[in-house]
Amino acid sequence: MTVAVAPVPAVGRPRFAALPPLSIYVHVPWCVRKCPYCDFNSHEAKGEAPEAAYVDALVADLESALPSIWGRRVVSVFIGGGTPSLFSAAAIDRLLAAIRARVPLAPQAEVTLEANPGTFERDRFAGFRDAGVTRLSLGIQSFDGAKLKALGRIHDGFEARAAAEAALALFDEVNLDLMYALPGQTPAEAEADAAAAIAFGPPHLSFYQLTLEPNTLFHRHPPPLPDDDAAADIEDAVHAALAAAGYRRYETSAFARPGHECRHNLNYWRFGDYLGIGAGAHSKLSFADRVTRQMRWKQPQRYLDEVGRGMPIQQEAEVTRDDIGFEFMLNALRLTDGVAAASFAERTGFPPAIVERELAEAVRRGLLEPDPATIRATPLGRRFLNELQTLFLRDPK
Ligand SMILES: C[S@@+](CC[C@H](N)C(=O)[O-])C[C@H]1O[C@@H](n2cnc3c(N)ncnc32)[C@H](O)[C@@H]1O
Ligand code: SF4
Repeated sequence: MTVAVAPVPAVGRPRFAALPPLSIYVHVPWCVRKCPYCDFNSHEAKGEAPEAAYVDALVADLESALPSIWGRRVVSVFIGGGTPSLFSAAAIDRLLAAIRARVPLAPQAEVTLEANPGTFERDRFAGFRDAGVTRLSLGIQSFDGAKLKALGRIHDGFEARAAAEAALALFDEVNLDLMYALPGQTPAEAEADAAAAIAFGPPHLSFYQLTLEPNTLFHRHPPPLPDDDAAADIEDAVHAALAAAGYRRYETSAFARPGHECRHNLNYWRFGDYLGIGAGAHSKLSFADRVTRQMRWKQPQRYLDEVGRGMPIQQEAEVTRDDIGFEFMLNALRLTDGVAAASFAERTGFPPAIVERELAEAVRRGLLEPDPATIRATPLGRRFLNELQTLFLRDPK
C-alpha cells in the first residue's frame, strides 16, 4: 500500500503550487524640486523631464521583463515617484496603452498615479483619468501654508485644497498623503490638518510621521521637530480624529473607509509579487522553485543608457530560506488584521515550520496573537513593530 505524503520542499528551495498575485510598479524619478526630507529616488528636473524617451525606455524595460511574468495576470498598476504628475496625460496614456497591450490586466484592475498639488491642472488630472488611471494619490503633506514652507514644498495651502477638490470630483478612488510631527507642530495644528483632510471626505488617507532620513538636507540640518513624547501625543490625536470620522487604520500609516483600501499596497503587504520598471524600481518575482529580487539602474540617465543596451537590471538576487521569513513578516505584520497563517506557505513557498521558533517567541512576549489560524500583531506588537519584526531576522551566515 502507498500512503500519500505532502511533498516536502528540498532543503533551501521554495515550492509553489500557484504563484502569488502580480502587480506592476512604474517609477518616474523626477520632481520640480527636491524636498529637504525626501530620500526617494527623485531628482530635480532641470528643464523638461525627457518624458518621451523615458516612456520609450519603460516600454523596452517591460518588454525585456515579459519572459519573467509570462502568462500571468496583473491585478494592479502603481505609477509612483518622484512626481509622475509632471508627465503629460498623453505620456501616461501611451504608457498605460503599452502595458495593456503587453500584459493581461485583470478586469477592474486598480491603476494609481501619484500627483503633487504643485503640478495640478484640472485638464491634466482629467487626462490621467481618461488614460485609464482609476485612483489618484495626492502628496498634500499639510494644508497649513507655514508648515508647507518649512517642508520646502512647491505648493501652498490653497493649491493643496484645489488639487484635493479636483481629484475628488474626477476620481472615485483618491488618497491624500499627509505627514505629522512636522517642524514646530502642536497636537492642535496636527488635528487641524486631519480635520481639513477629513472634511474633503476622501475614501483613503495616509498619515506618515516625518522621519529624518540619512542623505537628506533635513538630516544634515535638522529642523526643530517635536520630541518623542510630543510626537506620540500628535499621533494619538490624529488617529483618534480619523477613527471618529469612520476611517479604519488597516495598516501602520494607511486609513480607509471600508472597501477603499489600496489594493496595490495590500498586495505588497500580503507578500504578493511585483514587477518594478523604471529607474531604481524594485521587483519581487516568484517562480516555481525560487523567489528573486531585482533593482533597476537607479540614476535616471544611467537607466536610460542601460535600457538602450537591453540591460535595465542593476542587481538581482535570489531570496534565501533564511531571509524569506523576515521579509514576509516585515510586510504582513504591518496589517491590522494580519494575514491567514496558510498564506505563509502560499507566498513564501516554505512551510511555516521554518519560522516556528520565532513565532513562539513573539507569542511568548505578547507581541503576536496566539491564534494559530492567523499571523497578527497584538496591540503591543503594533506599538513595538520594529522589535516584533526584528525577531524574525536571521544573522547572516
Ligand atoms: C514618493 S512620495 C509621493 C508623492 C509626491 N512625490 C509628493 O511628494 O507629492 C510618497 C509620500 O511619502 C511621504 N514621505 C516622503 N518622505 C518622507 C519622510 N522623510 N518622512 C515621512 N514621510 C515621507 C510623503 O507623504 C509623500 O507624499
Ligand atoms: S515631491 Fe515627493 S518624491 Fe519629489 S522630492 Fe518631494 S517628497 Fe520626494
